[in-house]
Formats: sequence, structure tokens, C-alpha cells
Amino acid sequence: MRFSDEFLTELRSHIDIEELIGKYTDIRHRGTRTPVALCPFHTEKTPSFVIYRDTQSYYCFGCGAGGDAITFIKNIERLDFTEAVKYLCEKAGMNMPTDEADDARISMRRRCYEANREAARFYHSCLSLPEAAAANEYIKKRRLSPETVTRFGLGYAPDRWDALLKHLKKKGFNEDELVSFDLARKTKNGGTIDAFRNRLIFPIIDLRGNVTAFGGRVLDDSKPKYLNSSDTPVYRKGQGIYALNFAKNNSGRQLILCEGYMDVIAMHQAGFTNAVAGLGTAFTSEQINLLSRYCDELFLSFDSDEAGRKATERALRLLKNAPIKIKVLDYTGEGKDPDEVIKEHGRERMQKVISRADNDTEFALKRAREKYDLSTDDGRLGYLNDAVEILADVGNAMERDIYTSRLASELSVSTDSVKTQTEKARKRERRRESTAEFENAAKAAAGEDSKIRNPDRKKYLRAAKAEEFLLAALIKNPDYLKKLASRLSADLFVTPYNRRFFEDISARIKSGRSLDISAFGNNAENDDISYISYLFTLGKFTDENPQGCEQCIQTLIAEKEKMSRPRTARGLSDDDWLKAMEAKRKKQQ
Ligand code: UTP
Ligand code: MN
Repeated sequence: MRFSDEFLTELRSHIDIEELIGKYTDIRHRGTRTPVALCPFHTEKTPSFVIYRDTQSYYCFGCGAGGDAITFIKNIERLDFTEAVKYLCEKAGMNMPTDEADDARISMRRRCYEANREAARFYHSCLSLPEAAAANEYIKKRRLSPETVTRFGLGYAPDRWDALLKHLKKKGFNEDELVSFDLARKTKNGGTIDAFRNRLIFPIIDLRGNVTAFGGRVLDDSKPKYLNSSDTPVYRKGQGIYALNFAKNNSGRQLILCEGYMDVIAMHQAGFTNAVAGLGTAFTSEQINLLSRYCDELFLSFDSDEAGRKATERALRLLKNAPIKIKVLDYTGEGKDPDEVIKEHGRERMQKVISRADNDTEFALKRAREKYDLSTDDGRLGYLNDAVEILADVGNAMERDIYTSRLASELSVSTDSVKTQTEKARKRERRRESTAEFENAAKAAAGEDSKIRNPDRKKYLRAAKAEEFLLAALIKNPDYLKKLASRLSADLFVTPYNRRFFEDISARIKSGRSLDISAFGNNAENDDISYISYLFTLGKFTDENPQGCEQCIQTLIAEKEKMSRPRTARGLSDDDWLKAMEAKRKKQQ
């Protein structure tokens, strides 16, 4: 059967590929960026099976097997696509969709959006009731202007058991629906009550303007401070970004990621309309993907307490492979969070905090420094050791030099000795990373990989490699398609195999469909998804850019020309003709 992309995406998000594969083979370097394993699909002594955590996929350099969680189960358990989906569904505790269930789901989602919209209107209107006096008092205390309240659609959930229930029932919704939309909750003795009571309400709005969920804050110090919608037909925890519907329109392609609703609102009110926040849960890679579509630079703005720093560290780890620049705001000496800085010192001070933001290296160095007492020799040595590991990770040599000399002068040691230590740490790091993976990738990139299923690859190796490079570059940078549009077309491709992939990939780019490995795998042939995995892998190891692509295009033009060069009168190829001439010349001598 055909599954919707939406359903398959959800299924995959419930599965951790490393864990799944770990049941079948021993994984080395578990938990690192690229764990490797002995390939479960063929016999080998050194691991050439690589797992990519960021794309939740795998590729074996030994036998060319590759794909995502579904492909893996399909091949290892010898199931067909539907059976593999069923198998993973059971593992993830999800229901298999049926056609009728699909229709029902769609209409359920529509109902949920309608109920949410109606609820948001209701909560907002409740702000003008006499019983909302405390809520309005609170809004005033937080210095939110009426414009801000309207812009963010803030509201008040009355201190009654069934204010919203009554209202929405009148509008034609039934109790069961409202419970599954998490607008109402069942009590122990079988009654149904409003989910949010006596709280300030923050509607959460997605990029299409739909109300997907709610957050509610208490008006005093009671607990829990914030209540958030749980999973509903239109919302899943860990999905969505607060205020991205406003922030996405900022022109600078910069976003400021704050801790909570209130920070975001205070920032917007002060003119920082590029502030956003997660939604009450730890950050997910799904949210990072969403963010990286709308910014090139992301400022992390977490509270200045230990919890905030931990959250920053966690986010930095998650963001390590994201294609965006990361900065960290340092509130030390300024206040707890942006809300406080703006309230106490004004927007200019906030602007200063932003312009002074640390990059990830500076943040890590500050964190390391906090752990030690730098007035003791032991403390200085401890800090130096930690710092050297951090510097070893900095890829850019010039940047590394700058931090090295800063660190040296900070600790009054010689720059040379810090440099030597850093280089040692770098070598250690590199040795650790140069597992089979890198060697194999280099080999594959050099064209020795015989596992590639392009039947014309050997014959037209130069052309095929240029084509592979172009395909890998396109998957990684879909915008190249437009940039190269005038010169890059299907008829440029020498091998039909790659031409077919080019046609598929460019059609996906043009229609805005997903370029995730998994998206290619939906109902595709095994070999195809393996090849896509190979292209993804190639993309990881090549530093492609438009100029590189341009060269590949030139290569293809040259190869094409060579192929179409008219044969000589006697019907010989150039090579054969030259050979014949040579033979003739020899005979005449
Ligand atoms: P904070 O406690 O720092 O909230 O939690 P805040 O936004 O600064 O709130 P104010 O200024 O006291 O009003 C940060 C975020 O963590 C989530 C919420 O999303 C909140 O905005 N959170 C916090 C919860 O989901 N539940 C809680 O009980 C507390
Ligand atoms: Mn806070």
C-alpha cells in the first residue's frame, strides 16, 4: 500500500536508527557523530558500515547497502516495504494507517484546528471579563502593551471548571473530541473539565497561521508554572517553534532562540522581532531543521543560570552539524534573561548583549574556565588541559591561532607550548576519527568503489564521477539547481543511470518535495536508495561549491564532445585510427 509522507516521517521520528541497527551488529563509537559497525549484510573483518545520526541513515562501503530505518528492516528481515513499515509500527507503538483511517484523520485534524481557533478567540475575549482582573493585573506587571497582547493573541482561561467546554459545546464540538484535542481532560471520577483554568494563555501558531496548541501560565507562584498542550491530532511535543510565524519574515536571516514565551514576547515588544522559542520541552533535531530553514545565524539566549548553560551545551551539541552559524548570548552581569535585561536596562543594553555574543568556542572556553580556580597552579593546568581539547576542535587555523595566543596570555604561559599541546590534541582527535569510514570514503570518492550500480561507470569513469559530484552537490544545496540552470540539464549527463537520478532530484527540487534519504526511499527500489545513500555520503566528504560544479559541467561537455566526435572515413574511432596510422608508419620504415 502507499503511505503518506507525513505518516512515514512520523514513523521514522519514533525510531532511533543506531539503536535499531545495534540489535543486529556491534556498533563501534556509539553515540558519536558517525558510529561504524561490521556490516550485517555481508561478511567482513573491518567495519565499513557507517551510521549517520543526522540523516538517520546508513551506508556500507563494502557492499553498497544503504538506506534508512525502513530499508534496513526490509533487507535484514527480508520483508517487503509494507511489512517493514508494519514491523516498525509495532516497535514504535503506532497504528498502521488504513485508507478510511486516513480520511478520518484528515477530518479530525480539520476539526482540531477549528476547535483551537475557536478556543483561542474565546480565551482572548475572556480578558475583558470582570473575572480576568488578576490576569490583567499580571499583564500590566509584566509590562505587556495592549498591542502586544493582541499581536500574540494572549488570553485568559477563567477560573471555572467548564468555561471553554460550555462554549465549544455550544459551537458544536463534543466532549470526546475536546479531550482528544487536549482542550479538556477527563477527571478520575469520569467527569470532563477544561484543561486550562485560571491561566494566562499563549496560543501557539504555526507557519500557516493555524493554532496548533496552547501554553498557559499561572498568575502567581503555584506549580506547574507553565502547562502545555500534550499530543493532539495536530500537535506533537518537540514539534514547532513559538513565534516563528512572526520571526520568519525578518530580513537578516538571523534568529534569537529564547527559553520561553515571556522572553520572546518581551523581545518582540522591544523591537527584536526575530526572537523565537521552543515549546516547553528539550530541543529536538526536528526543531533545528525547521530553524535552519529560516536563518543563517542563530543566537542562543538561555537563562544565565546553570540550567540555562546546560541547555546551551545541549543545544550546541545538537546544532553541531546544522548548516548555520551559532552564537551564544552571555547575560553575566546583565540579568537573568532578556525579559529582565530589557525591563531593567532597556533595549539598547539588550542590543549590546547581542552584539557581544560569543561563538561556540568562546562559550566552551568560558564554561571550562568556570570549573577551575585560576589562582592555583592545579587550577590553571586543569583549565589549560580542557581548553586545549576545545581549541583542537576549531577547524579554522587562523581562528585557532587567535584563541591559542589569547589563552597563553591569559595563563601567562608561552604561546608555543599551548600550540604544541593543541596540535597534539588535534592529532589524537584525527587518529580517532580516521576509522575505516574515512579511508573508505576517500576510496569511494576516488572512484575505486566497485559497488556502485551504475552499469556505465567503468566505461565513462570521468563523466560518471563528475555526474556523481553534481548530484551530491544538488542534494546538499538545492539552490544550485537555479544557479546552474542555464547550463545544467539532463541531456548533459553521459550515463543514463545518473541522468535518471538527476531528473528525479531536479523534479523534487522544483516541486519543493523533500530531499531526505527517506523521502527517496518511499516505495523506491532497494538499489536506488543505496545509491542515494552513496550520494549523501559523497556529499559529506566533498566540499562542493558552484565553481566545483562548473568544472564538472565542463568535464561532461568535454566527454560528450569526445563521444560525438565524428568517426574517420574508415569508420574507426580516433584511438583506432591513430593506432592504424602508427602501424602504417612502422611498416613504411
Ligand atoms: P522559565 O521558568 O524560565 O519561564 O521556563 P519564563 O519564560 O522565564 O517565564 P516567566 O518569565 O517566569 O513567566 C522557560 C520555559 O520552559 C517551559 C516554558 O516553555 C517556559 O517558557 N516551562 C517552564 C514549562 O513548560 N513548564 C514549567 O513548569 C516551566
Ligand atoms: Mn526564564
